Amino acid sequence: MRLPIHREPHRPFDPPSELRGLPAMSRLEFADGHLGWLATTSAAARAVLGDPRFSARQELKHVVLHSVRPGGAASPAPPGFFAAMDPPGHTRYRRLLTGQFTVRRMRLLESRIAQIAAERLDAMEQAGPPADLVTAYALPIPSLVICELLGVPYADHDFFQQHTARIVSPGPESPVALKELAAYLAELVQRKSPDDDDLIGGLKAELSVEELTNVALILLVAGHETTANMLALGAFALLREGRREREFGAEAVEELLRWLSILHLGAPSRTALEDVEVAGELVRAGETVALSLPVINRDPAAFDDPEALRLDRPEARRHLAFGHGVHQCLGQQLARIELGIGYRALFERFPGLRLAVPAAEVPLKEAAAVYGVTSLPVTWSTSAG
Ligand code: HEM
Repeated sequence: MRLPIHREPHRPFDPPSELRGLPAMSRLEFADGHLGWLATTSAAARAVLGDPRFSARQELKHVVLHSVRPGGAASPAPPGFFAAMDPPGHTRYRRLLTGQFTVRRMRLLESRIAQIAAERLDAMEQAGPPADLVTAYALPIPSLVICELLGVPYADHDFFQQHTARIVSPGPESPVALKELAAYLAELVQRKSPDDDDLIGGLKAELSVEELTNVALILLVAGHETTANMLALGAFALLREGRREREFGAEAVEELLRWLSILHLGAPSRTALEDVEVAGELVRAGETVALSLPVINRDPAAFDDPEALRLDRPEARRHLAFGHGVHQCLGQQLARIELGIGYRALFERFPGLRLAVPAAEVPLKEAAAVYGVTSLPVTWSTSAG
């Protein structure tokens, strides 16, 4: 089997129908012809992600689809690029970074996120309806939040935001923008002092300029597109499904993460370093196991009535939308804050928010590494009219 990417047109939030009813582990043909595996249950996913006999090294991985990583085989992770490293190399970076995601820093960010969301909503309100929620709201919020986290000076916010927007919109511009942003970050890292109260300052004494630049790039790439797509796709889901709950409790965010599972095309994945049995199947050394998070997060063994979107689902937190094991999402706490504030502020400001086009016309990112919408036209009634 090759990984299907198309969703049924009237079911944009459900995994492709070919992925339903598969066994826990199925054979999957990767883009380069490699015959690996697809894991589709919560137990199989935990077994793979929690086992050190499976590696996250990118040079060992076969890629499920060319659209996810064009250019074929990857080289080993450069210094600081810890997401593609195994322990113990990974552990050192992870510890240093966990020390930077402190409760105090998250609290400070929380009030900044509320301010950033309010500013974006002011701008929407001033311009008047309709608006594209992706460019007006969902993309700028995570971009500005990463600016705050890394300590990008306010004067450079526009440069940063424009570049991150170009990086995440696929096309010939994207690698150029990434290069320019990497150069900018390298310079920023050099300028920072260990006394600066931000993430780069906090790690300046511990890591080299090259390491710290790559750490900053990982945070940017891992944290920006995911959160932006979650914000926009989640808003689309709430509008399409007719949910306007203004009280977004913690479970509502968890349930949207579960139900939408935006990492969808066989990511994350791992490669076996030796023969390992998973869910009764023998995965041979060198074989790559891809995970289908949208299917895993609708596993009936883990969730009651898994196809239903229930914003008060108590067991929603058991989802694997942030992964599992040593690479489990470093930014999950921050993402939860961004999403909670993002949805709440949006529906508080525009209680009558609605789609400005029929739901079937909202363009979906079926072939992109992170699922979402390319634009989300919305409208609302103004008090004047
Ligand atoms: C890792 C999902 C937001 C930073 C991961 C992984 C997943 C994930 C599934 C595991 C990858 C693997 O096992 O190979 C998400 C989703 C997000 C989100 C769905 C938003 C809704 C963020 C944010 C940040 C971030 C806001 C940072 C500011 C990272 C980093 C890793 C990671 C650095 C790699 C961790 C490691 O390898 O140790 N994320 N993420 N993520 N995420 Fe997130």
